[in-house]
Amino acid sequence: MRINLGDTAPNFTAATTHGIIDFYEWLGDSWGLLFSHPEDYTPVCTTELGMVANLKGEFTTRNVKTLALSVDDLATHQAWVKEIEETMQVKINFPIIADDKKEIAELYGMIHHNSNENFTIRSVFIIGPDKKIKLTLTYPASVGRNFDEILRVLDALQLNDNFDVVTPANWEQGGKVIIDPAIPAHELEEKFPAGYEEVKPYLRYTAQPK
Ligand code: BEZ
Repeated sequence: MRINLGDTAPNFTAATTHGIIDFYEWLGDSWGLLFSHPEDYTPVCTTELGMVANLKGEFTTRNVKTLALSVDDLATHQAWVKEIEETMQVKINFPIIADDKKEIAELYGMIHHNSNENFTIRSVFIIGPDKKIKLTLTYPASVGRNFDEILRVLDALQLNDNFDVVTPANWEQGGKVIIDPAIPAHELEEKFPAGYEEVKPYLRYTAQPK
C-alpha cells in the first residue's frame, strides 16, 4: 500500500520490545515517528537505533514518540538491543516492532519489492496528533538517515501548525521564516505586528515566531 501525505495513518496492533501496543492508543495525543530499518545485526541500523535513543530528549521536548520496525522476530530484536546498548553505549528507550509476518511493513509500503523482497527499506513516517501523515521519507539500505534533519523537519512542521508561516530552503531553528502565501496582504499588520519584509508579494519574510 502507498501512504501519501494527508492520509490517515493506518492503525495496527503489534508485538514490540516494550510489549504489545495498539498504535493509536500508544500515540495518544503525541506526534509519532514510525521508521523502518532493513535488518537486525546490521551496522548502519545499529547506528541509527543508537542515534534515536541518544536523541530521546529532543523528541520528548517536541512531544514526539519514536517507534522502529523491521521484519525480524521479537527474540532477535531483544538480543540485538543488548548489542546496540553495548556498542552505542545508550539505553534503547523506545519500542521496536517485530513484524516477522511483514503485515505492518506491507500496510505502510515499507517493502519496495524491486529493491529487496526480504526486508524493509529505510522508511520514515511523521504522524501528527490528528493521526494524519505529515511527512514521508525513503532511504535505501545503504544510507543511514540524518536524525538531526528529522528533528529540523519536526520543528518546521510544528511551526507551520502553530503559526501562519512556512520555512525556506535550509531553514534552521531561529532563522527567518516565510509568511504563508495564503495570508492576504490586508492581514499582515495584524498577524505580524513585529514586522515583515516583502521581497515580492509572494515572498514575505518574518522573524521565527516563538
Ligand atoms: C545496515 O544496516 O548496515 C545494512 C542493512 C541492509 C543492507 C545494507 C546495510
